[in-house]
Amino acid sequence: MAKGSLQRRRDHALGSGAELFYDTPLEIVRGDGVYLYDRGGRRYVDMYNNVPCVGHANPAVVQAMAEQQATVNVHSRYLHEGIVAFAERLAGLNHDGIESVVFSCSGTEAIEVAIQMARIVTGHRGLICTDSTYHGNSELVDSLTNVGCATNQTGEIRGFPFPERYRPQEEGLSEEELCEAYLARVATAIESLKTERAGFAALIMCAIFANEGLPDIPSGFMSKVTDLVHREGGLVTADEAQAGDGRPGHWWGYEKTAFRPDDVVTGKPMGNGLPLSATAARKDFVDAFRAEKDYFNTCSSTPLQAAVGMAVLDEIERLDLVRNAAEVGARLTRELECRIDSHSAIGDVRGCGLFISIEMIKDGDTKEPDAALTNSLSDRLKDKGFLVSHSGKFHNVLKIRPPLVFSHANAESFLDAFDECMVELSG
Ligand SMILES: Cc1ncc(COP(=O)(O)O)c(C=O)c1O
Repeated sequence: MAKGSLQRRRDHALGSGAELFYDTPLEIVRGDGVYLYDRGGRRYVDMYNNVPCVGHANPAVVQAMAEQQATVNVHSRYLHEGIVAFAERLAGLNHDGIESVVFSCSGTEAIEVAIQMARIVTGHRGLICTDSTYHGNSELVDSLTNVGCATNQTGEIRGFPFPERYRPQEEGLSEEELCEAYLARVATAIESLKTERAGFAALIMCAIFANEGLPDIPSGFMSKVTDLVHREGGLVTADEAQAGDGRPGHWWGYEKTAFRPDDVVTGKPMGNGLPLSATAARKDFVDAFRAEKDYFNTCSSTPLQAAVGMAVLDEIERLDLVRNAAEVGARLTRELECRIDSHSAIGDVRGCGLFISIEMIKDGDTKEPDAALTNSLSDRLKDKGFLVSHSGKFHNVLKIRPPLVFSHANAESFLDAFDECMVELSG
């Protein structure tokens, strides 16, 4: 069947406007490890998808899924050893203040749990997030999207400018002064919530600001903002939906960016494709949440989720993927940084394990973002067999976020293709 016709059927079956990547969309029919294959049999190196963290169609995960489904899968209102063991293991991978877990099926749901928990624990409703974040798509969680950072905001949500050194909120400051300037914006946001009925419940932030474009964060900001929030009586949620499960070269993004959150939200890679997410926190916080909400989520906290989640953790450990992310990511980042001087369109390269951002610009002096070039680069890389995408406030950040089984050899072949594209696009 011609691809055009599949796209037309899709428009009808799913409604027009359901987003597709690339000017000529890909029809993917098979995955294996770090590779994806289209209907014509063409192989692509997947450098975008974080969900299949232990590789597409990972045999151990597939086997765990099939065996559990063939044995039993029920909702959470029965005792089951596997579910308890999975919750214990997940909590144990975190800092010692993380003791108990609420499972759900998506990052959105897990963030909702974190928000409700913070509101119950603090008795207040106000939330703070960055001006360019995304934490999910329910009505409540989506209200954290595109909040901006104006200082005259009202209601229960306040935004602050995400902390970054490449386009700092104020030029000419030392790193320490810049850090203080961003902290002052958070303090203003908290103050503003406290003068309204909402009060202040929580700061919710991705541990590495992935959707903001993976900025270079002024040193000390994350721990200082955590201290500030605690002094003001609020909780800090680390959203690890993108950052977590080994990608930063540590188990969690908050270890890399050095702060101690009160609760930790994990999602996307946890089930290698099976819907699985979690909100983990101190036991008394989780107890308070359960006492108030009687939370039930039909397909979560099931034997199937636990078996698959355990298999993913086993595979991350067996394949030594946290170390792989650190080593391959660091080398690829270094190689890309070497290209900044020879390509004026590359403004900055930032890496956090196997999460790398390349900031594309029109002009080195003004740092004017080049979203069109980023898009062309992504399309051209696809034509050469490498799948990436873009992110950031200005859509000009090439986003490299492969499955964690991505190897040094994959990185080398990508660099060849990247160099070819940069020459072609500058010609
Ligand atoms: C940082 C972050 N948090 C939460 C979510 C929401 O996760 P889900 O799509 O599983 O609801 C996303 C989704 O892109 C995300 O990037």
